[in-house]
Amino acid sequence: MKRSQHRSNISGARRRVCRVTAAALFATAGMMLPAASTLAQQPTKVKIGLMLPYTGTYAALGNAITNGFKLAVEESGGTLGGREIEYFTVDDESDPAKAPENANKLIKRDKVDVLVGTVHSGVALAMAKVARDNNTLLIIPNAGADEITGPLCAANIFRTSFSNWQPGYAMGKVAADQKKKTAVTFTWKYAAGDESVGGFKEGFEQGGGKVVKELSLPFPQVEFQPYLTEIASLKPDVVYVFFAGGGAVKFVKDYAAAGLKSSIPLVGAGFLTDGTLDAQGDSAQGLLTTLHYADGLSNPKDKRFRAAYSKAYKAEPDVYAVQGYDAAQLLNTGLAAVKGDVGKRGELVAAMEAAKIDSPRGPFTLSKAHNPVQDIYLRKVEGKENKVVSVAIKGLTDPARGCKL
Ligand code: PHB
Repeated sequence: MKRSQHRSNISGARRRVCRVTAAALFATAGMMLPAASTLAQQPTKVKIGLMLPYTGTYAALGNAITNGFKLAVEESGGTLGGREIEYFTVDDESDPAKAPENANKLIKRDKVDVLVGTVHSGVALAMAKVARDNNTLLIIPNAGADEITGPLCAANIFRTSFSNWQPGYAMGKVAADQKKKTAVTFTWKYAAGDESVGGFKEGFEQGGGKVVKELSLPFPQVEFQPYLTEIASLKPDVVYVFFAGGGAVKFVKDYAAAGLKSSIPLVGAGFLTDGTLDAQGDSAQGLLTTLHYADGLSNPKDKRFRAAYSKAYKAEPDVYAVQGYDAAQLLNTGLAAVKGDVGKRGELVAAMEAAKIDSPRGPFTLSKAHNPVQDIYLRKVEGKENKVVSVAIKGLTDPARGCKL
């Protein structure tokens, strides 16, 4: 805090010196002085605070989001809404306990105009509270915490990813349509896992299925063995899981190594196999998942995005890269509407609310609660791809229970 006050005092002093010098020059040359307001309006950069995991089980997700975001900025000439961008980056370590301090640093010390983050729902919940308290614009490029576009929804909070309920609910419907009768669920015990399982249970039981057991372990533990033994003895028709990142890699391998893959079908929210297939190899082949992105969509936007992403980063994009890319696209739409003037918050928010984002996933709009209304795809792992099988649910809107917007 002290450091930034000091810095802004220095820059204030420098600005004054510049004005005096300019005034002296114009006076000497006998020219008209430009209005003081013109000089004061020197366009500064828009400050973006990227608060994402760059270490731990979600590190790859944070990097892909960052890459996607920066790609969209580069595609609009290194600017958003015509203004150059300055990044302030924090590794949030997917640690909810550190989240309030990290978010406050970006807002109060670095004075960011927009906060972008994060992956982990527990961290994002803390960010949403800080963003509400400070009325800072927050764009969430992954974390699905239902509450954020439910009871905690706010004019200054947007999401370009999904609610945890969305892919889970779609998979529940698919499993019920496949005439599965019993399911066991398994996840990390925190908001994302609980809500993903909640969505699955709702869809599955509406379709006539029954969740017979809900298993969980603390995030980010990966000692899966005792739970696999229990699943083997319960013998459900299907197992639904929420795991992502490094944990998903290990779970899919362990499930196959335990010999369960051929006897009890494993399904999940698509994070189970997104950005993970290189590491999962044979163990993931044939798995069915549901998500708002897939390989083989082949729309023109997706083709352009994939070519640009792999050229820039020498890697294939995944769902996280798409969500980061769309966060920048959404902000660009808002900033363009106010010609880069972040102070025009009402107009900026109105433009973001009305945006139709031309996403690699297919076009999407935002619900009243600021969550994407989007197609959820059924995908099947084939080689290194989550190949689109069908649209599991078209234009799925999160119920946004408790949102008062
Ligand atoms: C979440 O915590 O909301 C979360 C994390 C990783 C994912 C999806 C959701 O892949």
